[in-house]
Amino acid sequence: MIRRSLDVRLIIASFFLAGAAVAGPVSFSKQIAPLLADQCLECHRAEKAKGGYRLDAFEQLLKAGDSEEVPVVPGKAEASELYELLVIHDETDRMPKKADALPEKDIALIRQWIQEGAKYDGANAQASLTSLLPQKMAQTLEKYPRPIPVTALAVNGDGKVLVTSGFHEVLSWDPATGKMRGRLPGLPERILGLSFVQGGPWLAVAGGSPGRIGEVWLVNFAKPSERKRLAQLRDCALGVVASADGKYLVAGGADNRVRCFALPEGKEIWNIESHADWILGLAISPDSQHVATASRDRTAKVMKITNGEIQGTFNGHSVPVLSVAFAPNSQEVISGGSDGEARRWVLDGTGKKDSTLRPSGRSEVLALGYVNQDTPLTASGSGQVSLIDSKARKTKARLAMHGDRVNAMVLLGAGAEQAVITACHDGEIRITRMQDNQELRKFIASPGW
Ligand code: HEC
Repeated sequence: MIRRSLDVRLIIASFFLAGAAVAGPVSFSKQIAPLLADQCLECHRAEKAKGGYRLDAFEQLLKAGDSEEVPVVPGKAEASELYELLVIHDETDRMPKKADALPEKDIALIRQWIQEGAKYDGANAQASLTSLLPQKMAQTLEKYPRPIPVTALAVNGDGKVLVTSGFHEVLSWDPATGKMRGRLPGLPERILGLSFVQGGPWLAVAGGSPGRIGEVWLVNFAKPSERKRLAQLRDCALGVVASADGKYLVAGGADNRVRCFALPEGKEIWNIESHADWILGLAISPDSQHVATASRDRTAKVMKITNGEIQGTFNGHSVPVLSVAFAPNSQEVISGGSDGEARRWVLDGTGKKDSTLRPSGRSEVLALGYVNQDTPLTASGSGQVSLIDSKARKTKARLAMHGDRVNAMVLLGAGAEQAVITACHDGEIRITRMQDNQELRKFIASPGW
């Protein structure tokens, strides 16, 4: 049960960059490298050097591309091709290509750096640009400067540990008190998917840095230094989920691919471009036989977990599909669209037997789950969490109402005490008891808040 929204890549942009300004001369490694890595690296690196130009290392960035114009002339911004292409009026020639011009303050920074002699202040001019980035910054940040949007969460089997997305880290909390238990640092910048592996001690983590890298990790929750990277993508890994039987791990990405790994060793068993656009939602059936995916390509699909073979494609949404969940009987799937419609469909291979549920008016359905066979649960862009009566096709009860979009949710416990944990874009976690709609707890899931 996971989900998130279309603008997931924008969420945390420059989250920690505010306040990074340094007095004195412009620093290449602290100020220029992050900027170029963010805006330019996508098209100018070893694997993909548009215009024959690379800037994946300082040394590369000084070498002319196909134009044979000198990219950087120390002390002379106006004679530097790199600078000229940032300020050129003709949009078709301007860099970054096919995007808005850089903000004026960034252009000014690059200009100043060139004027000051285009100096390199790193240890090794051949080192990759990304190795200069302040990867470790957040790990030592005791307190976040402001609450971070929660984009992923998971609870472990006994319900005693809640993990949420942090900045370059996963945060763990005690759901009974809302107190932080620990931090798992050294992970992707943005954490977009979290799932505990049944039986422990492994936690699956998906995330990345938009346009640059995506990663899927297995981290030993009991001993976080023990970890393995299962996959590296060109763009973010958008979600990950482990099967209930503890045998499989499935990840979906901004590369439109679904990957399946055998657990516990994490060996990839299949990797298929199942969709024509990003995989925004992912679920595994309770019987661990099938994977359901929701994609920005406006379809949802169900595939066999053993080999990725498509069992059904659901075309009922005419908008991007953001979320998906399996019913407890594993035979029915619900998928949520960006137009606020949730659709229930039966797994008979045709994808035809469906019904529409309108849980949340016109607000996108960002996360889905099931309380029982006839009672799906939806979370929306308006902050509303609702229980749906799928037979009557109407809202049964409105649970938590958040102040911003609900990016993810998970169920905690069972029976009378069953609760739903919801993760909001404003950084808040809420735990709401289902039976009487009682708010059991709420807290901001950011260190120091
Ligand atoms: C979406 C892809 C893309 C992005 C992002 C991008 N570029 Fe380019 N760049 C190109 C292409 C394509 C060319 C080849 C010339 C053209 O088509 O205009 C090019 C050419 C260049 C050249 C000239 C190379 C030569 O000698 O011919 C420089 C310098 C350059 N880019 C710098 C940058 C900088 C700096 C950024 C970031 C601010 C950036 N580019 C972002 C695609 C991109």
